[in-house]
Amino acid sequence: MTAAVYESSTGKEYRLPTKEDILAFEIAQVSLNPLFDEIPFDLPLEHVPRGASRVGGGSAFSIQPFGVNCWHQLFNTRQLIAIGTFIKYTREATRTMLDAGYDKEWSTSISSLLALAIDRLADRGSTVCSWTVGWDKIRNTFTRFALPYTWDYAESVPIHDSSGGYPGSIDWISRYVEHASRIVPAIASIKNESAIAERNTTYDIILTDPPYYDAIPYSDLMDFFYVWLRRSLFGLSSETDIAFSKPLSPKWNVELQDGELVDDSGRHNGDRKESKKSYEDGMSRAFASCHEALMRDGRLVIVFAHKQPDAWETLVGAIIRSGFVVDASWPIQTEMANRTRALASAALSSSVWLVCRKRPESARPGWDNRVLDEMRHNIHNQLRDFWDAGIRGPDFVWAATGPAMEAYSKHPVVKKANEPGKLMEVSEFLRAVRRLVVDFVVGRVLTGGDETSASGLDDVTTYYILHRHDFGIQDAPVGPCILYAISCNLSDRDLADRFDILLRTGGLSSADDDDEVDEEETDADAEPDEGTGSIVKLRPWHQRKRKTMGYDAEGHPAPLIDQVHRLMHLWKTGDVAKVDDYLDSRGLRKNALFLHLLQALIELSRRDEQRDETVILENLSNHLQARGVAPTRSVTLPGFGDDDQNEAGSE
Ligand SMILES: C[S@@+](CC[C@H](N)C(=O)[O-])C[C@H]1O[C@@H](n2cnc3c(N)ncnc32)[C@H](O)[C@@H]1O
Repeated sequence: MTAAVYESSTGKEYRLPTKEDILAFEIAQVSLNPLFDEIPFDLPLEHVPRGASRVGGGSAFSIQPFGVNCWHQLFNTRQLIAIGTFIKYTREATRTMLDAGYDKEWSTSISSLLALAIDRLADRGSTVCSWTVGWDKIRNTFTRFALPYTWDYAESVPIHDSSGGYPGSIDWISRYVEHASRIVPAIASIKNESAIAERNTTYDIILTDPPYYDAIPYSDLMDFFYVWLRRSLFGLSSETDIAFSKPLSPKWNVELQDGELVDDSGRHNGDRKESKKSYEDGMSRAFASCHEALMRDGRLVIVFAHKQPDAWETLVGAIIRSGFVVDASWPIQTEMANRTRALASAALSSSVWLVCRKRPESARPGWDNRVLDEMRHNIHNQLRDFWDAGIRGPDFVWAATGPAMEAYSKHPVVKKANEPGKLMEVSEFLRAVRRLVVDFVVGRVLTGGDETSASGLDDVTTYYILHRHDFGIQDAPVGPCILYAISCNLSDRDLADRFDILLRTGGLSSADDDDEVDEEETDADAEPDEGTGSIVKLRPWHQRKRKTMGYDAEGHPAPLIDQVHRLMHLWKTGDVAKVDDYLDSRGLRKNALFLHLLQALIELSRRDEQRDETVILENLSNHLQARGVAPTRSVTLPGFGDDDQNEAGSE
């Protein structure tokens, strides 16, 4: 023990530990075993996950190499005694309620809620909970969906009414119960069943928030809580005994091909291909099961929050194959404000809700050209409506995707008119949709209204405009940038390495994107710099110095933005003849897109207060307008060493 923190009249104070503090810690050891002798299943000796894979679900666990092999080893003796004592008396409370004549259902519900309070206590009372220096409080174990090792920790006082205490846990749970019972007047029936299983009931609506590939190893993380719930609730009812019959929560059952759907190669002997396939097949079977269980005019609503469009496309493909028509999608802000506090406005703070209905059995195969025409026709007005409703950033792309999908998904398959025997895949269709949507947005940025003017703009320049429009030249979270990149048929890697347009400026690992912030942490007391995710930014034009920039490579015409940046470098050298040669050789003087782009860049650079950039762009623009006036080499070009002229912005 290195320090004790206590409340004073002026706030938190720190002092050295006393002999009594240390003694109190040491004597706890004596009562540990007798206490757990009274509790079902004794101390949690069940194993923590190995964290087998470097990527995917298993990467969330890094505690085993530090000697933490069993769940109880995540707690010190005193913490175990606190949890064990609360379990003992929660079990006793159940008996007392039944003795006092409480209805069995009531006492089961109350005991279950009390057991959740113990889990909250464990979350704030493990040796993973570190001290937040800036905020003078204890972090919970799951500040993100991972169980990392921490080198030091803070121990809360579980009986105290402060962060990590039991009274606070009870308070949060009561507040939830009050809130939920106001919203859902009927009693919800919650069953622990696999979504893959067949059902005998039919439903009007099935609403699901499915797992996404390797994003979060839910059942492994759940075991942290499960081991304590099992000890608190076993014996309560036949249902709880079934739910807690196994030492750990359900994982993937190879024999039954059922269980938790997660892409974690650790579950498949390290076989990554098998892991992905098993996840995708399982999801398809779950959607097929939804189709079976849904009324003819029912709706399946699926919540998507994954940042990777290829993951998204595979799942949408599975939904369509299961017999659904996707006909609407809405981004809904589902995350707490503080959860995404460090992300810019265009981050995926929303999840996308896809609305699907059953495809009539009479539906016929479609043809790609007609499907695309229908999609373009349908989506046009909708894009304007979404834009006018103020939807922006990647949310705009997602909002438009659902309505656009209808034209495609109303057919069981879409054939290619010009390639007999071939089908148009969902990814190909979605690429066309996204391109249409980004052209719309870029059209708005370039001309303030005429979305058609952007069609024909190359992919890299389109990306540049979207990125610059949303994030300027500042750091941006990589999630929406990836989404934009894919919308432009590019990847973030292409943009960084091949096109030299994106800079990786840091941030935490991608797992940190999924930071879960405890409810106790409000916006006002949230830590400023946690969970920012990976960060990128646009490379400033003056740092784009590759010799080939702005010149065509074999089969690859130079992106328009590269041509602008090449011109800016040429202008900066002061050699106007070279500027003119370049303009003429590329036919830029008559290129309407180029002129729109130049104007848009002037406005964006002004907004971003990039004075040097603005000056050069303005001078280039003026130079173009002053056609016929052919400056000579001896002319000192504006923008270099002559501020007055720069301000005037003319030649
Ligand atoms: C994205 S999470 C849902 C989170 C939930 N909406 C919430 O706010 O807590 C996906 C959930 O699907 C569960 N899951 C995975 N495989 C399943 C299966 N075969 N049947 C039912 N649920 C499954 C995971 O355990 C996880 O809890």
